[in-house]
Amino acid sequence: MIRLENIYLSLGGAGILKNVGFHIRRGETGVILGASGSGKTTALRLILGLLKPDSGRVFVDGEDITNFPEEELLRVRAGMGMVFQAGALFDSMTVGENTAYRLMEKGGHSPAEIEERVRRSLRFVGLEDSIDQMPAELSGGMKKRVAIARGIVASPAIMLYDEPTAGLDPLNSHNITNLIKRLKEEQGVTSVVVTHDIPLAFEVADYMAFLHEGEVCYVGGTDGILKTDMECVREFIDHSGRADLACGERRSSI
Ligand SMILES: Nc1ncnc2c1ncn2[C@@H]1O[C@H](COP(=O)(O)OP(=O)(O)O)[C@@H](O)[C@H]1O
Ligand SMILES: [Mg+2]
Repeated sequence: MIRLENIYLSLGGAGILKNVGFHIRRGETGVILGASGSGKTTALRLILGLLKPDSGRVFVDGEDITNFPEEELLRVRAGMGMVFQAGALFDSMTVGENTAYRLMEKGGHSPAEIEERVRRSLRFVGLEDSIDQMPAELSGGMKKRVAIARGIVASPAIMLYDEPTAGLDPLNSHNITNLIKRLKEEQGVTSVVVTHDIPLAFEVADYMAFLHEGEVCYVGGTDGILKTDMECVREFIDHSGRADLACGERRSSI
């Protein structure tokens, strides 16, 4: 469904992604893990066609989008919902208007249909009662849920999340984690989740790609990542504060 193949990308003269490849199958959730600056958001921007690689290929839903012109990319992007890192709600719009944004932008929907879809999306994230509130009145966790409602309003087959639990407390992180899982289970959505949140990653992932300084140093399932002896992965997980997930010798000693 989503495939990056041998991607090399430089920005401002610096190599950002080096021979990056991974594949997320239809209906599955792929997690891109890695420390800050490892290239996770850049990988999402490639999937959205917002950046072009210097070499390598990007496939979305069977199409090679690497060299697509902008109008073709707009069509591809219309099939994706995106939850940006900062949440990025419009402060001057109500929750309902924020949620409706993609449908309004696209046009061709009647006001009744927009209202129905907006309410359905907000109901899914448990915020239908907040439809007339302003973002400033919401907690951080609620804002993130509105961002998800906005992402799913046009019923995309693919959802992309950039650090969806960053800055949230454990309860709110858990709520977001559940929403990501329910979208997969109830609607068969294919998801890409970029994060350095280890509990989130292990809850949602069918497949993981671990990025370290622009290179993939692990791809595969959640079991394999606990067994790998790649130093960059082990350090990251061992320092996650999750002794239950600690790799290698530390794991075998518990
Ligand atoms: N437009 C840009 N120009 C130059 N360097 C960039 C640009 N965007 C990102 N980078 C650099 O690329 C690296 C990876 O960034 P990013 O993909 O945002 O990492 P992550 O999301 O994993 O924190 C960082 O070192 C960042 O400074
Ligand atoms: Mg990022």
